[in-house]
Amino acid sequence: EPGSGITVHFKDAKGTLLKTVEANEGDSILDIAHEYDIDLEAGACEGSVACSTCHVILPPEYYDLLPEPEDDENDMLDMAFGLTDTSRLGCQVKLTKELDGITATLPSATRNMFVDGKRTVVS
Ligand code: FES
Repeated sequence: EPGSGITVHFKDAKGTLLKTVEANEGDSILDIAHEYDIDLEAGACEGSVACSTCHVILPPEYYDLLPEPEDDENDMLDMAFGLTDTSRLGCQVKLTKELDGITATLPSATRNMFVDGKRTVVS
């Protein structure tokens, strides 16, 4: 129904708003990034916590609402470029009503690019 969605903003590392979208409860940040074609183009491991390409930076007040990351997520985050205190893997952040209005910022240091048809991570 209209108005029942969870509003999510995506920003780039410079703080420029890329897109504001409506998500449903239970979607992950990675799911909606894919759905709305956001250049988090990530998701190299399809959400199985075996990469860190879905790294996003969250506002502290929203970060604090989330359950603690599991060990495997922490291990992957340790390898992420541009790690911050409020970094999470987008595939592990499941949206709930209380996260309405969240902003996911894409880290600056890593960019997944397709070069000659091959996925390349540029840092
Ligand atoms: Fe690989 Fe999130 S998509 S860890």
